[in-house]
Amino acid sequence: MKKKIFIARAIFPEVLDRLAEYFEVEANQADRTYTADELAARISGVDGALVTGSERIGADLLAASTRLKAVCNMAVGYNNIDVDAATRAGVMVTNTPDVLNETTADFGWALMMACARRVTESEHWLRAGNWTKWRYDTLLGADVHGATLGIVGMGRIGQAIARRSLGFDMQVLYHNRSRLAPELEVRANNARWVGKEELLHSADHVILVLPYSPQTHHTIGAAELALMKPSATLTNIARGGIVDDVALIAALRERRIAAAALDVFENEPALHPDFLGLSNVVLTPHIASASEPTRRAMADCAAHNLIAALTGALPPNLLNPACAQKDAK
Ligand code: GLV
Repeated sequence: MKKKIFIARAIFPEVLDRLAEYFEVEANQADRTYTADELAARISGVDGALVTGSERIGADLLAASTRLKAVCNMAVGYNNIDVDAATRAGVMVTNTPDVLNETTADFGWALMMACARRVTESEHWLRAGNWTKWRYDTLLGADVHGATLGIVGMGRIGQAIARRSLGFDMQVLYHNRSRLAPELEVRANNARWVGKEELLHSADHVILVLPYSPQTHHTIGAAELALMKPSATLTNIARGGIVDDVALIAALRERRIAAAALDVFENEPALHPDFLGLSNVVLTPHIASASEPTRRAMADCAAHNLIAALTGALPPNLLNPACAQKDAK
């Protein structure tokens, strides 16, 4: 008899077809938003679930889902899943690392460039009919080339961002819990490890690429924003909650920093309404990994992990190997 899986959100039809070769599938191609109770009811009746970063898989749901063996996230970040509780419940958890590194780094650059050079603000200004003549000081922005780039969180995506800065003749500072091996620092355009305060104080463009956890909650709040240069920009492609949105709104409004670019928000997809009234912020709807090939690669990777987990193989991106070992006994 085929094992049963639940796919929490709409997915590429080819990936659904592939999973249906192995499993009895409950899909959600209508992309309904389930309540927590509806989600729990569906997950408790299956052997495996393919979810996205939008579904919260908490301890209660995991403890109640006695049939469940695997939760496969279609995202590299997995702060939506209580991995410790999953391990206690004997549920394997996987994510989709690596396949999105370069695409996400590209988008980090797109946002940083957009806010430094006021691209979206310029377009809004033009569309509103304001462009009647050339002026020497219209929409002046900050240079990116030759500037100091500050990367907070120097994992694979952070390093991919740093590598791109070579062509812009930038100096790279980074802050991470642990220093990179010297050869990786060289590859990352000779990135130099500094303390968080020094980075915020020195960088012209700060970009956040660290995972969200209780320890990284509000890594950037009022005190950190106060350390930044008034001419600096801040780009967040990591997770909402890493930045204190209310503190950032105040800093942008009072021009204590020049501009920000945000792909992620506290409480997304709802965003603080005051962002909408600010001209010096670029806003995008959590799409840093959203190129066609990369989203396909992420869906394939999540499906591959799920097939492995439920057919007795080791999922390539298993986050809680202790759980697989326990299962194998
Ligand atoms: C996107 O935010 C991801 O974690 O993959």
